[in-house]
Amino acid sequence: MIRFTLNRSEVSVDAPEDMPLLWALRDRLNLTGTKFGCGVSQCGACTVHVDGKAIRSCVLPLSAVAGKNVTTIEGLAGEDNSLHPVQAAWLEVQVPQCGYCQSGMIMAAAELLERNPDPDDADIAEAMTNICRCGTYTRIRKAITRAAELKRRSA
Ligand code: FES
Ligand code: FES
Repeated sequence: MIRFTLNRSEVSVDAPEDMPLLWALRDRLNLTGTKFGCGVSQCGACTVHVDGKAIRSCVLPLSAVAGKNVTTIEGLAGEDNSLHPVQAAWLEVQVPQCGYCQSGMIMAAAELLERNPDPDDADIAEAMTNICRCGTYTRIRKAITRAAELKRRSA
């Protein structure tokens, strides 16, 4: 049994320790906002936060999150359901096309803004290594810049 904090609630999962966190989230905990893309840590569709750091959950064994804080796209909004600045900016800029990569993109962007509240285009390009098959990169960059403004304004 692996116990950890998931989106501000304590959870325990009865699953093999080497099960990828992504499998546990989707198949055992029914949180399907986090997507399976490549399964080999290349595309970023499975990005979640573990103790505030963006990680690719398709290659992280469940045992690695024991006792830690995991946040998925379902838990990114505030406790009062107020959108995270990245979510608000994503809506404003209308970033998604098919949407498949987008929860991973949003989680990666949210972590970037924690580390760097005012990223320039080069910082965004360096941090955002997730892949979008629909090519929404230009809107993603615009939305991250907008999210940084919104976040600074609400600080
Ligand atoms: S599914 Fe995890 S990086 Fe692609
Ligand atoms: S919006 Fe379709 S893969 Fe990114």
